[in-house]
Parts: sequence; structure tokens; C-alpha cells
Amino acid sequence: MEILGSNSHKIIKGDALLVLDSAVDDESVDLIFADPPYNIGKNFNGLKDKWKNDDEYVSWCYTWLEICIRKLKPNGSFYVMTSTQFMPFFDIFLRSKMKILSRIAWHYDSSGVQAKNYFGSMYEPILFCVKDDKNYTFNSKDILVEAKTGAKRKLIDYRKNPPQIYKSEKVPGNVWEFPRVRYRMDEYEEHPTQKPTALLDRIIKASSNEGDLILDPFSGTFTTSFVGKTLNRRTIGIEMQEGYVRIGLRRLGLSDEYKGEKLVKKVRAL
Ligand SMILES: C[S@@+](CC[C@H](N)C(=O)[O-])C[C@H]1O[C@@H](n2cnc3c(N)ncnc32)[C@H](O)[C@@H]1O
Repeated sequence: MEILGSNSHKIIKGDALLVLDSAVDDESVDLIFADPPYNIGKNFNGLKDKWKNDDEYVSWCYTWLEICIRKLKPNGSFYVMTSTQFMPFFDIFLRSKMKILSRIAWHYDSSGVQAKNYFGSMYEPILFCVKDDKNYTFNSKDILVEAKTGAKRKLIDYRKNPPQIYKSEKVPGNVWEFPRVRYRMDEYEEHPTQKPTALLDRIIKASSNEGDLILDPFSGTFTTSFVGKTLNRRTIGIEMQEGYVRIGLRRLGLSDEYKGEKLVKKVRAL
């Protein structure tokens, strides 16, 4: 294990399952966002995202899910992602240990080859769970979106006495539409499953406050830590691939070199 970065923004190079217990105190984290490998065969810098069989993947996940729950404060929140085919296992496992408040679908318009013989996947599922549904952070005012009905035309609600204009803002529902990160976008980094900053912005604003501690055990390009830093939260990001740790150090402005090599963003030729 290697601990890099600063006190407020730690970047830990290592296997999350092996380092979480020594690097993070139990009940110390306000918000966890976990976006693990999905067991669908992506290539993470040579690390193959494919387990021998479904049972092995699921039992690997149960191990780190259990550790994450232990790291959360009693009023903490846990957002977790995986592929559509494995989310039912997570859901059944977590509902006996936490309170699942939302089952979110992150919907996007898919690029690339579309399925022709079945209905192609256009969303990724996210579970939003808390330890205590009577005591958790949810900053609804910080994540309001335009309420399309009534917002533009100022429709009047005649059921109210006296009649009132419909509210023009609302808390988002559980279908979230954000474009996927594509390589022409400014935020793009060299990673096959980078999550958009907009997705993390909503999660972090809703479920943490300034100064809170956020943990991401599978950081990839360190989107969670990057957005957390922008929003004045403290962050811990764990990642086992050195190439992605380099991205994190640069993206968060924590260092301009690693092991004597300058950290510069690779720009892919079009
Ligand atoms: C789905 S990606 C995360 C992407 C990230 N949310 C982002 O926005 O870039 C999963 C990441 O977990 C890393 N990983 C896989 N197994 C790991 C482990 N045991 N410990 C730490 N990181 C791991 C992979 O290298 C990969 O970068």
C-alpha cells in the first residue's frame, strides 16, 4: 500500500479489500461511492474485469460491501453501482443490512454499436442506502432541477386555496440523465468506465456537507475525489492500478510528478 496526496485528499494505491481496514477507521466516513469492476470484461490497464464465474464475483463483492458498511458513520450514506445483471444480488444483500432509499437508473443515450436482436442497455443502476433512515444527510435544496410541468408556462394549481403557481423546481426523481464521458469532452481521461462529474456532483451535494469525509474504494480516474475537492469535502480514494493513481494525483492537483516522471494529461489524436 502507498498513501499519497494530502491529509484532506488521500490517494491510496492498493487493493481496496486489503487496505481499507488499515487505512480507514470504522464508522469514520460520511459518504461512500463505490463503482467496482462490473464483471463484464472491461480492460482496466491490463487488469481484466472478469471473474471465473458469477458466484466468485458476487462473493468478492459481498466482502467489500460488508467492509464499506463498517467504515460508514451511523448517519452515513452509501451509493453503489454495478452492472444491471449483478445489481439484484447487491440489492438483496444490502436490504438486510441497510435501508435502501432509492434505486436509481443513470440513463444515457448509448454511443457505438447498438444491440439488434434484443433491447440494448441504456442505463446503469445505482443503489442509495443509509444506515439510519431517521438520521442521514439529504440536502434537497442543493440539487433541485427544473420541474418541467408548469415551470415555463407558470401553470396554476387550482386545487390550492387560494390557487398557486406550480413550483418551478423539484428534487430529481430516480431516473437521472447525464451524458457518458466521451473522449472529446474536457473531463475525459484515459479510462474505459469513467463516470461523469455531473453524476458525482449530485450525489456529493445531496449526501454530504462541507468538511465531510468521502470514500471511493474503486477510484479509477478519481472523479469522486475530484468533485469532492471542488465542493470542499475531504476525500479518500483507493485504486490498485498505478496508471490511474497518476491520473488522480494530477487531476486533484496534488502532485505534478510521480516516481520522477511528470504527470501530464495524454491527449488522444482524433
Ligand atoms: C468502474 S472503475 C471506476 C471508475 C471511476 N468511478 C471513475 O469515475 O473513473 C473500477 C476501478 O476499480 C479498480 N479496481 C479493480 N479492483 C480493485 C481493487 N481490488 N482495489 C482497488 N481498485 C480496484 C480498477 O482498476 C478500475 O479503475
